[in-house]
Amino acid sequence: MSVFTSGIGHPALEAGRIGELTPANRLVVSPMTRVSAAPDGTPTDEMAEYYAEFARGGFGLVITEGTYTDTVYSQGYLNQPGIVSPEHAAAWRETTGRVHEAGAAVVLQLMHAGALSQGNRYRDDTAGPSAVPPLGEKMPEYGGHGPWPTPRAMDEADIEAAVRGFAESAVRAREAGFDGVEVHGANGYLLDQFLTDYTNRREDRYGGPVTNRIRLAAEVVAAIRAEVGPDFCVGVRLSQTKVNDFTHRWPGGVHDAETVFGALADANATYLHIASEGRDWIETARMENGVTITGLARRVSGLPVIANGGMHDFGQAAKVLADGHADFLSIGRAALASPDLPRRLADGTPLEDFDHMMLQPMATLDNARRWRRSALTGA
Ligand SMILES: Cc1cc2nc3c(=O)[nH]c(=O)nc-3n(C[C@H](O)[C@H](O)[C@H](O)COP(=O)(O)O)c2cc1C
Repeated sequence: MSVFTSGIGHPALEAGRIGELTPANRLVVSPMTRVSAAPDGTPTDEMAEYYAEFARGGFGLVITEGTYTDTVYSQGYLNQPGIVSPEHAAAWRETTGRVHEAGAAVVLQLMHAGALSQGNRYRDDTAGPSAVPPLGEKMPEYGGHGPWPTPRAMDEADIEAAVRGFAESAVRAREAGFDGVEVHGANGYLLDQFLTDYTNRREDRYGGPVTNRIRLAAEVVAAIRAEVGPDFCVGVRLSQTKVNDFTHRWPGGVHDAETVFGALADANATYLHIASEGRDWIETARMENGVTITGLARRVSGLPVIANGGMHDFGQAAKVLADGHADFLSIGRAALASPDLPRRLADGTPLEDFDHMMLQPMATLDNARRWRRSALTGA
């Protein structure tokens, strides 16, 4: 059990605004892959219940797990949910309905895995910006083993298909009742592969300087915006670190960050969400001259910013908000341990400790349920 002082007066409990959305507080469920959809990508009732629990627990905004966007190269894992058909959209209605009923807003994370695909029912090969083998190995908790294959370098038609997949998926997400979408540009997946100098060796307008490497993400946001109109929430998640590289930093530091945030604001994103994959916020946020990456994102873009990484440390969380480093806080692992984290903050109830065993041997809802049962019964 972690100990903290009661949250009365904690700035995370104040209402906020993201575009047209007005979440009841600043606490956001971070996107978390659970590989628990049907084999054809249809989200299940169990998933709807899982998401509704966070809303009942007081989170103002729930962001779903990364959801694949086309029937070509986007799928990252087997049993990942999709949003590529009217049937997918209809099934997601169960989630949006239950989350809304419990009083929270809900945003669908749109994800193209690119070279970091380890299970795709539509394809055996992978595609990315360049034919560069990814660092590290596939992730067992999402059902992968062994080294990543070297991706095929995407041509113009592949890129067009990927952009179209994001845009059409956003329309389906709106039809499914979502309050917005979040473009997954973080953690080493396709859009981050384009942004990253060592995975993007292209010599066309998508490669070379950072203005070119952020182009695909900006085109995706602009294409979505053109389809969904000015009022629908279109966030973007970015990170320096990656699932397969916990120490990466944008090589141009503040200059790169200013270019990236400016391009996404110009493309009419609604918010920016800065992830801290594998690290706490403060470790990944610090840039030159004492600037934080989230504070810089706010200043350069003028958009609401969600900070992430260890925000269940409520002392740090209060400082991040009060000192102007971010507007919202997303919480991952601690939300899995305590889906009612906002209520606990409000009434001073200690959080449950996160136990990585709840995601073993895979991060499925089934395994979490089994873990909970054995934790309760000692069996
Ligand atoms: C089981 C699990 C699955 C995750 N899946 C995603 C995902 O689908 N999309 C994403 O952007 N980040 C994903 N992440 C990263 C989290 O959103 C978050 O950035 C990370 O856990 C750090 O935040 P925390 O310190 O609050 O846990 C995942 C993390 C976990 C633990």
